[in-house]
Amino acid sequence: MKLSEKAQSCTLSPMRKFTPYAMACEKAGKKIYKLNIGQPDIETPPEFFEAVRNFSQKVLAYANSQGIESLQEAVVDYYHRIGVEYTKQDILITTGGSEALQILFLSILDPGSEVIVPEPFYANYNTFIKAAGGVVRPMSTIPEEDYNYANKEKLEALINENTRAIAIINPQNPTGNVLTEQELEMIAQVAKEHDLYLICDEVYREFVYDTDDVLCAGRLKGVDDNVVIIDSVSKRFSACGARIGMLISRNKDLMAQALKFCQGRLCSATLDQVGAAALYKVGPEYFAKVRDEYRRRRDLCYAKLTAIPGVVCAKPMGAFYVMAKLPIDDAESFQKYLLTEFEDNGETVMVSPATGFYATPGKGLNEVRIAYVLKEKDLGRALDLLAMAIDRYNHR
Ligand SMILES: Cc1ncc(COP(=O)(O)O)c(C=O)c1O
Repeated sequence: MKLSEKAQSCTLSPMRKFTPYAMACEKAGKKIYKLNIGQPDIETPPEFFEAVRNFSQKVLAYANSQGIESLQEAVVDYYHRIGVEYTKQDILITTGGSEALQILFLSILDPGSEVIVPEPFYANYNTFIKAAGGVVRPMSTIPEEDYNYANKEKLEALINENTRAIAIINPQNPTGNVLTEQELEMIAQVAKEHDLYLICDEVYREFVYDTDDVLCAGRLKGVDDNVVIIDSVSKRFSACGARIGMLISRNKDLMAQALKFCQGRLCSATLDQVGAAALYKVGPEYFAKVRDEYRRRRDLCYAKLTAIPGVVCAKPMGAFYVMAKLPIDDAESFQKYLLTEFEDNGETVMVSPATGFYATPGKGLNEVRIAYVLKEKDLGRALDLLAMAIDRYNHR
């Protein structure tokens, strides 16, 4: 029987493809410090669990396809608090930001349609865009320029008759790049002038470390039809397992098409939505505390990485990742070495080899993405292990 070309053109996730090695490694009794996946160790606010415990309906029924009202209202209210006015009609609740991206690409792409994405980018964009028949048109960025992609000429050079959208992640996964307001406005103007969607994936919105300004593309004027926001409770509230995200736009035609896919998949999990609505009750002190914690982790991670001879990286300004070129030949074989051969006192470390974060073949071979999602003591140990492993790997 045949398999689809779409499926075959996709790859396994670089964050998860080494899981079988990790399971064998753990079975053999080793401890792994996991810096490969954006799964924070910060506790989920108790409001989530309380709301789920207090759920008193006798039937766990389907929810509305666009989401339960209390969650939509909580999201509207959250945006109002950060100075962005949305109505419930502008919001579709999805099963994570992941499903919001899938539904969006299904709604805007035809076979061969192109999406401009600054690379390196969140690896699953490759899968989501290809699955919708689209093509990733990468815009290369480099650590020496802090992975900046706010360059009008370079952006416009990539636009052609097949281009449907510019997709940006701000703050960026995996580079930690954060746009200024002027840069965001410039990119929005390019999208408007060329009649393109501007997809703004802002799932790390609160995680900015060198400014207090929480940017949101929903605040931009005159680009209501262009701007689409991808949002999620996963990172904001350290609630990745809740699987609740949102697709947000004032573009009514787009939202009408997206609703068809939402209805097709019936609804996002009812109980997760109930819990997620309660998460939005947390106050600004929650965000300030979490941001301080990640800032300290960022500083430690960057200091430790740059102390390793031969490592090249840019200081991340947001999200909770850093891309690093390592003085090794091949990050995938290094990752296997970490999980099969290397250990120090029964401990090892796991990172994400970076080729999957690129669309350009051959890029990212000796690069890894590191997620600074562990508390400082563990993070420090994990990076010491990494330094030790690089040395031993190169002297095998
Ligand atoms: C940039 C970005 N967008 C979307 C997602 C999807 O997150 P979720 O489906 O958990 O909301 C992630 C997850 O890591 C991400 O990093």
